[in-house]
Amino acid sequence: MTGAGPRPVPTHTANATLNQRLAALGDGPFRRLDLLLAGVTPAPNRKVLDFALGEPRHPFPASVARLIQDRQADWGRYPPMKGTAEFLSAVASWLERRYRLIPGTVNPTTNVAPIAGSREGLFLIAQVVVPAQSEHRPVVLLPNPYYVAYAGAAVGSGGEPVFVPATAESGHLPDYFSLPREVLERTALCYLCSPANPQGVFADASYLRRLIALAREYGFILAVDECYAEIYDRHAPIGALEVCAQESGGFDNVLVFHSLSKRSSVPGLRSGFVAGDPRAIAEFLRFRAYSAPTVPLPVLAASAALWDDDRHVVETRDSYRAKFDQAERALGNRFGFRRPDGTFFLWLNVRNGEAAARQLWADAALRVMPGAYLGYGEGPDNPGAPYVRVALVDDLAATADAVARIAATLS
Ligand SMILES: Cc1ncc(COP(=O)(O)O)c(C=O)c1O
Repeated sequence: MTGAGPRPVPTHTANATLNQRLAALGDGPFRRLDLLLAGVTPAPNRKVLDFALGEPRHPFPASVARLIQDRQADWGRYPPMKGTAEFLSAVASWLERRYRLIPGTVNPTTNVAPIAGSREGLFLIAQVVVPAQSEHRPVVLLPNPYYVAYAGAAVGSGGEPVFVPATAESGHLPDYFSLPREVLERTALCYLCSPANPQGVFADASYLRRLIALAREYGFILAVDECYAEIYDRHAPIGALEVCAQESGGFDNVLVFHSLSKRSSVPGLRSGFVAGDPRAIAEFLRFRAYSAPTVPLPVLAASAALWDDDRHVVETRDSYRAKFDQAERALGNRFGFRRPDGTFFLWLNVRNGEAAARQLWADAALRVMPGAYLGYGEGPDNPGAPYVRVALVDDLAATADAVARIAATLS
Protein backbone atom coordinates (compact mmCIF):
# COMPACT_ATOMS: atom_id res chain seq x y z
CA MET A 1 0.00 0.00 0.00
CA THR A 2 1.17 3.53 -0.69
CA GLY A 3 1.72 5.96 2.18
CA ALA A 4 1.90 5.02 5.80
CA GLY A 5 -1.20 3.00 6.48
CA PRO A 6 -2.58 1.95 9.81
CA ARG A 7 -0.27 -0.16 11.90
CA PRO A 8 -1.48 -2.49 14.63
CA VAL A 9 -2.67 -0.21 17.38
CA PRO A 10 -0.30 -0.75 20.32
CA THR A 11 -1.86 -2.65 23.16
CA HIS A 12 -0.04 -0.72 25.84
CA THR A 13 -0.20 3.03 25.42
CA ALA A 14 -0.09 4.30 28.98
CA ASN A 15 3.26 6.00 28.49
CA ALA A 16 2.65 7.31 24.99
CA THR A 17 1.77 10.94 24.32
CA LEU A 18 -1.45 11.75 22.52
CA ASN A 19 0.51 12.37 19.34
CA GLN A 20 2.41 9.10 19.59
CA ARG A 21 -0.89 7.29 19.93
CA LEU A 22 -2.37 9.12 16.94
CA ALA A 23 0.76 8.39 14.89
CA ALA A 24 -0.06 4.69 15.27
CA LEU A 25 -2.99 5.25 12.93
CA GLY A 26 -0.66 6.26 10.11
CA ASP A 27 -1.32 9.03 7.61
CA GLY A 28 -4.87 10.26 7.08
CA PRO A 29 -6.75 9.28 3.91
CA PHE A 30 -6.07 12.50 2.00
CA ARG A 31 -2.33 12.41 2.65
CA ARG A 32 -2.27 8.79 1.51
CA LEU A 33 -4.18 9.71 -1.63
CA ASP A 34 -1.70 12.52 -2.36
CA LEU A 35 1.15 10.04 -2.00
CA LEU A 36 -0.59 7.48 -4.21
CA LEU A 37 -1.09 9.99 -7.01
CA ALA A 38 2.24 11.81 -6.66
CA GLY A 39 4.30 11.13 -9.74
CA VAL A 40 1.26 10.00 -11.75
CA THR A 41 0.44 12.58 -14.43
CA PRO A 42 -3.29 13.20 -14.77
CA ALA A 43 -4.67 12.64 -18.25
CA PRO A 44 -3.70 15.72 -20.31
CA ASN A 45 -6.35 17.94 -21.95
CA ARG A 46 -8.99 16.96 -19.44
CA LYS A 47 -10.39 19.11 -16.73
CA VAL A 48 -9.26 17.77 -13.37
CA LEU A 49 -12.23 16.62 -11.29
CA ASP A 50 -11.99 16.06 -7.53
CA PHE A 51 -14.54 13.55 -6.30
CA ALA A 52 -12.43 12.37 -3.38
CA LEU A 53 -13.31 14.98 -0.78
CA GLY A 54 -16.81 14.92 0.75
CA GLU A 55 -17.15 18.69 0.82
CA PRO A 56 -20.59 19.84 -0.39
CA ARG A 57 -20.24 22.37 -3.19
CA HIS A 58 -23.93 23.15 -3.64
CA PRO A 59 -24.88 26.80 -3.26
CA PHE A 60 -25.71 27.48 0.39
CA PRO A 61 -28.61 29.71 1.45
CA ALA A 62 -27.79 33.34 0.63
CA SER A 63 -29.32 34.36 3.96
CA VAL A 64 -26.26 33.05 5.85
CA ALA A 65 -24.10 36.07 5.03
CA ARG A 66 -26.87 38.52 5.94
CA LEU A 67 -27.64 36.75 9.21
CA ILE A 68 -23.99 36.89 10.24
CA GLN A 69 -23.77 40.53 9.18
CA ASP A 70 -26.85 41.35 11.28
CA ARG A 71 -25.04 40.07 14.39
CA GLN A 72 -21.66 41.58 13.66
CA ALA A 73 -21.57 43.43 16.98
CA ASP A 74 -21.37 40.00 18.63
CA TRP A 75 -17.87 39.39 17.22
CA GLY A 76 -16.89 41.54 20.19
CA ARG A 77 -18.25 39.06 22.73
CA TYR A 78 -17.08 35.68 23.98
CA PRO A 79 -19.66 33.09 22.97
CA PRO A 80 -21.26 31.18 25.86
CA MET A 81 -20.14 27.55 26.07
CA LYS A 82 -23.72 26.32 26.20
CA GLY A 83 -24.83 28.31 23.16
CA THR A 84 -27.83 30.63 23.13
CA ALA A 85 -31.49 30.02 23.93
CA GLU A 86 -32.29 30.93 20.31
CA PHE A 87 -29.91 28.28 18.94
CA LEU A 88 -30.82 25.55 21.44
CA SER A 89 -34.55 25.93 20.94
CA ALA A 90 -34.16 25.95 17.12
CA VAL A 91 -32.28 22.66 17.44
CA ALA A 92 -34.81 21.13 19.85
CA SER A 93 -37.69 22.13 17.52
CA TRP A 94 -35.88 20.72 14.51
CA LEU A 95 -35.23 17.40 16.30
CA GLU A 96 -38.89 17.18 17.31
CA ARG A 97 -40.09 18.06 13.80
CA ARG A 98 -37.63 15.87 11.93
CA TYR A 99 -38.08 12.83 14.17
CA ARG A 100 -41.79 13.28 14.94
CA LEU A 101 -41.17 13.56 18.68
CA ILE A 102 -43.88 14.78 21.02
CA PRO A 103 -43.24 18.51 21.58
CA GLY A 104 -41.27 18.96 24.78
CA THR A 105 -39.40 15.64 24.41
CA VAL A 106 -36.11 17.48 23.84
CA ASN A 107 -35.14 19.88 26.60
CA PRO A 108 -33.00 22.55 24.91
CA THR A 109 -30.86 23.18 27.97
CA THR A 110 -30.25 19.65 29.25
CA ASN A 111 -30.37 17.59 26.07
CA VAL A 112 -28.45 19.76 23.57
CA ALA A 113 -25.01 21.34 23.29
CA PRO A 114 -23.53 23.27 20.35
CA ILE A 115 -20.36 21.96 18.70
CA ALA A 116 -18.09 23.44 16.06
CA GLY A 117 -19.11 20.84 13.48
CA SER A 118 -19.80 17.20 14.24
CA ARG A 119 -16.14 16.22 13.86
CA GLU A 120 -15.19 18.21 16.93
CA GLY A 121 -17.89 16.61 19.07
CA LEU A 122 -17.22 13.11 17.78
CA PHE A 123 -13.55 13.44 18.69
CA LEU A 124 -14.03 15.06 22.08
CA ILE A 125 -16.72 12.73 23.35
CA ALA A 126 -14.16 9.93 23.66
CA GLN A 127 -12.00 12.09 25.88
CA VAL A 128 -15.07 12.66 28.08
CA VAL A 129 -16.51 9.16 28.46
CA VAL A 130 -13.55 6.78 28.12
CA PRO A 131 -12.00 6.21 31.55
CA ALA A 132 -8.27 6.61 32.04
CA GLN A 133 -6.15 3.46 32.03
CA SER A 134 -7.45 0.89 34.43
CA GLU A 135 -6.88 -2.77 35.08
CA HIS A 136 -9.13 -3.64 32.16
CA ARG A 137 -8.37 -1.46 29.20
CA PRO A 138 -11.53 0.32 28.06
CA VAL A 139 -12.76 -0.44 24.56
CA VAL A 140 -14.05 1.93 21.90
CA LEU A 141 -16.09 0.20 19.20
CA LEU A 142 -16.10 1.64 15.71
CA PRO A 143 -17.21 0.54 12.28
CA ASN A 144 -14.66 -0.45 9.68
CA PRO A 145 -14.49 1.46 7.28
CA TYR A 146 -14.78 4.44 9.59
CA TYR A 147 -14.78 8.22 9.67
CA VAL A 148 -11.31 9.29 10.66
CA ALA A 149 -12.38 11.19 13.80
CA TYR A 150 -13.69 7.98 15.45
CA ALA A 151 -10.33 6.23 15.19
CA GLY A 152 -8.41 9.32 16.27
CA ALA A 153 -10.74 9.74 19.22
CA ALA A 154 -10.50 6.11 20.25
CA VAL A 155 -6.73 5.97 20.09
CA GLY A 156 -6.35 9.46 21.53
CA SER A 157 -8.48 8.57 24.57
CA GLY A 158 -6.13 5.69 25.40
CA GLY A 159 -8.91 3.16 24.88
CA GLU A 160 -8.52 0.06 22.75
CA PRO A 161 -10.13 0.62 19.36
CA VAL A 162 -12.06 -2.43 18.18
CA PHE A 163 -12.73 -2.11 14.45
CA VAL A 164 -15.88 -4.02 13.52
CA PRO A 165 -16.32 -4.80 9.81
CA ALA A 166 -19.24 -3.14 8.07
CA THR A 167 -19.23 -5.07 4.81
CA ALA A 168 -21.70 -6.27 2.19
CA GLU A 169 -22.03 -9.49 4.25
CA SER A 170 -23.14 -7.55 7.35
CA GLY A 171 -25.48 -5.27 5.38
CA HIS A 172 -22.77 -2.57 5.43
CA LEU A 173 -23.40 -2.00 9.14
CA PRO A 174 -21.13 -3.23 11.94
CA ASP A 175 -22.32 -6.36 13.72
CA TYR A 176 -21.71 -5.21 17.30
CA PHE A 177 -24.15 -7.80 18.58
CA SER A 178 -21.85 -10.76 17.98
CA LEU A 179 -18.88 -9.34 19.86
CA PRO A 180 -17.56 -11.43 22.74
CA ARG A 181 -19.01 -10.59 26.11
CA GLU A 182 -15.51 -9.81 27.40
CA VAL A 183 -15.19 -6.99 24.82
CA LEU A 184 -18.66 -5.60 25.49
CA GLU A 185 -17.98 -5.56 29.23
CA ARG A 186 -14.96 -3.32 28.66
CA THR A 187 -16.72 -1.05 26.15
CA ALA A 188 -16.97 2.61 27.16
CA LEU A 189 -18.01 4.10 23.82
CA CYS A 190 -19.45 2.83 20.55
CA TYR A 191 -19.60 4.79 17.29
CA LEU A 192 -22.22 4.25 14.65
CA CYS A 193 -22.52 6.25 11.43
CA SER A 194 -26.07 6.34 10.06
CA PRO A 195 -26.50 7.21 7.22
CA ALA A 196 -23.10 5.64 6.80
CA ASN A 197 -20.13 7.23 5.15
CA PRO A 198 -18.91 5.60 2.92
CA GLN A 199 -21.45 2.82 2.31
CA GLY A 200 -24.60 4.97 2.06
CA VAL A 201 -26.87 2.65 4.09
CA PHE A 202 -28.73 3.49 7.24
CA ALA A 203 -29.60 1.60 10.39
CA ASP A 204 -33.28 0.71 10.71
CA ALA A 205 -35.38 0.89 13.86
CA SER A 206 -34.72 -2.69 14.86
CA TYR A 207 -30.92 -2.34 14.53
CA LEU A 208 -30.98 0.89 16.56
CA ARG A 209 -33.28 -0.61 19.19
CA ARG A 210 -30.93 -3.55 19.68
CA LEU A 211 -27.85 -1.34 19.82
CA ILE A 212 -29.42 1.03 22.33
CA ALA A 213 -30.37 -1.97 24.46
CA LEU A 214 -26.78 -3.25 24.22
CA ALA A 215 -25.42 0.16 25.31
CA ARG A 216 -27.72 0.16 28.31
CA GLU A 217 -27.00 -3.45 29.22
CA TYR A 218 -23.22 -2.94 29.17
CA GLY A 219 -23.26 0.68 30.33
CA PHE A 220 -21.50 2.31 27.39
CA ILE A 221 -22.28 5.50 25.49
CA LEU A 222 -23.62 5.03 21.98
CA ALA A 223 -22.45 7.92 19.78
CA VAL A 224 -24.51 8.00 16.61
CA ASP A 225 -23.07 10.18 13.87
CA GLU A 226 -26.18 11.40 12.05
CA CYS A 227 -24.51 14.22 10.15
CA TYR A 228 -25.97 12.86 6.86
CA ALA A 229 -29.49 12.52 8.33
CA GLU A 230 -30.95 15.02 5.86
CA ILE A 231 -29.20 13.75 2.74
CA TYR A 232 -31.31 10.79 1.68
CA ASP A 233 -32.90 9.37 -1.42
CA ARG A 234 -36.30 7.72 -0.96
CA HIS A 235 -37.15 8.00 2.70
CA ALA A 236 -35.82 9.83 5.72
CA PRO A 237 -33.63 7.68 7.94
CA ILE A 238 -34.90 7.01 11.43
CA GLY A 239 -32.77 8.58 14.15
CA ALA A 240 -31.47 7.16 17.42
CA LEU A 241 -33.41 9.68 19.52
CA GLU A 242 -36.56 8.79 17.57
CA VAL A 243 -36.07 5.16 18.58
CA CYS A 244 -35.37 6.18 22.20
CA ALA A 245 -38.64 8.10 22.23
CA GLN A 246 -40.51 4.91 21.25
CA GLU A 247 -38.98 2.98 24.16
CA SER A 248 -38.66 3.56 27.87
CA GLY A 249 -35.43 4.90 29.34
CA GLY A 250 -35.44 8.39 27.86
CA PHE A 251 -32.23 9.23 26.02
CA ASP A 252 -30.04 7.31 28.48
CA ASN A 253 -26.69 6.18 27.02
CA VAL A 254 -27.41 7.74 23.61
CA LEU A 255 -25.88 10.79 21.95
CA VAL A 256 -26.49 11.91 18.38
CA PHE A 257 -24.21 14.24 16.43
CA HIS A 258 -25.58 16.56 13.77
CA SER A 259 -24.16 19.24 11.56
CA LEU A 260 -25.09 21.95 9.10
CA SER A 261 -22.14 21.05 6.89
CA LYS A 262 -24.11 18.59 4.75
CA ARG A 263 -27.67 19.69 5.53
CA SER A 264 -27.12 23.30 4.51
CA SER A 265 -23.94 22.87 2.41
CA VAL A 266 -21.94 25.10 4.78
CA PRO A 267 -18.93 23.00 5.84
CA GLY A 268 -17.03 26.24 6.43
CA LEU A 269 -19.51 27.51 9.02
CA ARG A 270 -18.35 24.85 11.53
CA SER A 271 -21.68 24.42 13.21
CA GLY A 272 -23.36 21.38 14.65
CA PHE A 273 -24.78 19.99 17.86
CA VAL A 274 -24.74 16.96 20.10
CA ALA A 275 -28.00 15.86 21.70
CA GLY A 276 -29.29 13.13 23.96
CA ASP A 277 -28.40 11.72 27.38
CA PRO A 278 -28.52 14.65 29.83
CA ARG A 279 -25.74 13.27 32.04
CA ALA A 280 -23.40 12.84 29.10
CA ILE A 281 -24.30 16.32 27.81
CA ALA A 282 -23.49 17.81 31.24
CA GLU A 283 -20.13 15.96 31.30
CA PHE A 284 -19.39 17.11 27.77
CA LEU A 285 -20.10 20.74 28.72
CA ARG A 286 -17.93 20.46 31.83
CA PHE A 287 -15.06 19.17 29.70
CA ARG A 288 -15.51 21.97 27.21
CA ALA A 289 -15.42 24.54 29.97
CA TYR A 290 -11.76 23.58 30.35
CA SER A 291 -11.01 23.37 26.64
CA ALA A 292 -11.23 25.86 23.83
CA PRO A 293 -14.03 25.23 21.36
CA THR A 294 -17.06 27.48 21.37
CA VAL A 295 -19.28 28.49 18.48
CA PRO A 296 -19.26 32.27 17.82
CA LEU A 297 -22.49 34.15 18.46
CA PRO A 298 -23.05 35.29 14.84
CA VAL A 299 -22.58 31.67 13.72
CA LEU A 300 -25.08 30.46 16.34
CA ALA A 301 -27.61 33.04 15.09
CA ALA A 302 -27.21 32.00 11.44
CA SER A 303 -27.34 28.35 12.49
CA ALA A 304 -30.60 28.82 14.40
CA ALA A 305 -32.17 30.26 11.23
CA LEU A 306 -30.88 27.35 9.14
CA TRP A 307 -32.25 24.72 11.56
CA ASP A 308 -35.59 26.58 11.43
CA ASP A 309 -35.76 26.33 7.64
CA ASP A 310 -36.46 23.01 5.90
CA ARG A 311 -37.13 24.39 2.42
CA HIS A 312 -33.54 24.77 1.31
CA VAL A 313 -32.88 21.18 2.39
CA VAL A 314 -35.62 19.86 0.09
CA GLU A 315 -33.85 21.56 -2.84
CA THR A 316 -30.49 20.15 -1.75
CA ARG A 317 -31.90 16.62 -1.61
CA ASP A 318 -33.44 17.02 -5.06
CA SER A 319 -30.11 17.99 -6.54
CA TYR A 320 -28.40 14.98 -4.97
CA ARG A 321 -31.18 12.76 -6.37
CA ALA A 322 -30.59 14.12 -9.87
CA LYS A 323 -26.93 13.15 -9.47
CA PHE A 324 -27.78 9.64 -8.22
CA ASP A 325 -30.04 9.30 -11.32
CA GLN A 326 -27.14 10.32 -13.50
CA ALA A 327 -24.81 7.85 -11.79
CA GLU A 328 -27.37 5.08 -12.12
CA ARG A 329 -27.76 5.77 -15.85
CA ALA A 330 -24.00 5.76 -16.42
CA LEU A 331 -23.05 2.82 -14.23
CA GLY A 332 -26.13 0.57 -14.29
CA ASN A 333 -25.23 -2.46 -12.24
CA ARG A 334 -21.49 -2.23 -12.82
CA PHE A 335 -19.10 -2.20 -9.85
CA GLY A 336 -21.91 -3.34 -7.56
CA PHE A 337 -23.55 0.07 -8.07
CA ARG A 338 -26.25 0.74 -5.50
CA ARG A 339 -28.06 4.04 -5.12
CA PRO A 340 -27.13 5.23 -1.64
CA ASP A 341 -30.10 5.29 0.75
CA GLY A 342 -28.45 8.30 2.32
CA THR A 343 -25.23 10.39 2.06
CA PHE A 344 -23.81 11.61 -1.24
CA PHE A 345 -21.26 8.84 -1.78
CA LEU A 346 -20.99 6.06 -4.32
CA TRP A 347 -19.22 3.03 -2.88
CA LEU A 348 -18.05 1.10 -5.90
CA ASN A 349 -16.55 -2.35 -5.81
CA VAL A 350 -13.74 -2.08 -8.35
CA ARG A 351 -11.81 -5.08 -6.91
CA ASN A 352 -8.69 -3.03 -6.12
CA GLY A 353 -9.51 0.50 -5.01
CA GLU A 354 -5.94 1.80 -5.04
CA ALA A 355 -5.27 0.55 -8.57
CA ALA A 356 -8.59 1.99 -9.77
CA ALA A 357 -7.92 5.38 -8.14
CA ARG A 358 -4.51 5.53 -9.82
CA GLN A 359 -5.99 4.53 -13.18
CA LEU A 360 -8.80 7.09 -12.95
CA TRP A 361 -6.24 9.79 -12.24
CA ALA A 362 -3.86 8.73 -15.01
CA ASP A 363 -6.46 8.03 -17.70
CA ALA A 364 -9.34 10.33 -16.74
CA ALA A 365 -7.93 13.12 -14.49
CA LEU A 366 -10.48 12.10 -11.86
CA ARG A 367 -9.63 11.94 -8.15
CA VAL A 368 -11.55 9.38 -6.09
CA MET A 369 -10.77 7.91 -2.68
CA PRO A 370 -9.50 4.33 -2.39
CA GLY A 371 -11.71 2.53 0.12
CA ALA A 372 -8.65 1.07 1.85
CA TYR A 373 -7.73 4.55 3.10
CA LEU A 374 -11.05 4.74 4.93
CA GLY A 375 -10.62 1.34 6.54
CA TYR A 376 -8.34 -0.36 9.00
CA GLY A 377 -6.19 -3.40 8.24
CA GLU A 378 -3.60 -4.55 5.76
CA GLY A 379 -4.36 -6.07 2.35
CA PRO A 380 -7.48 -8.22 2.25
CA ASP A 381 -8.01 -7.67 5.98
CA ASN A 382 -9.02 -4.11 5.15
CA PRO A 383 -12.72 -4.26 4.23
CA GLY A 384 -12.42 -1.06 2.16
CA ALA A 385 -9.69 -2.45 -0.11
CA PRO A 386 -11.88 -3.52 -3.06
CA TYR A 387 -13.74 -0.19 -3.18
CA VAL A 388 -13.46 3.41 -4.26
CA ARG A 389 -15.55 6.16 -2.71
CA VAL A 390 -16.89 8.78 -5.10
CA ALA A 391 -18.28 11.93 -3.48
CA LEU A 392 -21.06 13.46 -5.62
CA VAL A 393 -20.53 16.94 -4.22
CA ASP A 394 -19.93 18.87 -7.44
CA ASP A 395 -22.72 20.08 -9.75
CA LEU A 396 -24.78 17.88 -12.07
CA ALA A 397 -22.70 18.54 -15.18
CA ALA A 398 -19.44 17.69 -13.42
CA THR A 399 -21.07 14.61 -11.89
CA ALA A 400 -22.29 13.43 -15.31
CA ASP A 401 -18.77 13.91 -16.60
CA ALA A 402 -17.19 12.06 -13.65
CA VAL A 403 -19.45 9.00 -13.78
CA ALA A 404 -19.04 8.82 -17.57
CA ARG A 405 -15.27 8.84 -17.07
CA ILE A 406 -15.57 6.00 -14.52
CA ALA A 407 -17.73 3.97 -16.90
CA ALA A 408 -15.31 4.52 -19.78
CA THR A 409 -12.09 3.97 -17.82
CA LEU A 410 -12.65 1.01 -15.52
CA SER A 411 -13.40 -2.44 -16.83
C1 LIG B 1 -19.23 10.56 8.68
C2 LIG B 1 -18.84 11.95 8.97
N1 LIG B 1 -18.96 12.41 10.21
C3 LIG B 1 -18.62 13.65 10.55
C4 LIG B 1 -18.11 14.52 9.60
C5 LIG B 1 -17.69 15.89 10.05
O1 LIG B 1 -18.42 16.89 9.48
P1 LIG B 1 -18.52 18.35 10.16
O2 LIG B 1 -17.46 18.42 11.22
O3 LIG B 1 -18.31 19.28 9.06
O4 LIG B 1 -19.88 18.39 10.77
C6 LIG B 1 -17.96 14.10 8.28
C7 LIG B 1 -17.39 15.02 7.27
O5 LIG B 1 -17.09 14.69 6.17
C8 LIG B 1 -18.33 12.78 7.95
O6 LIG B 1 -18.24 12.31 6.71
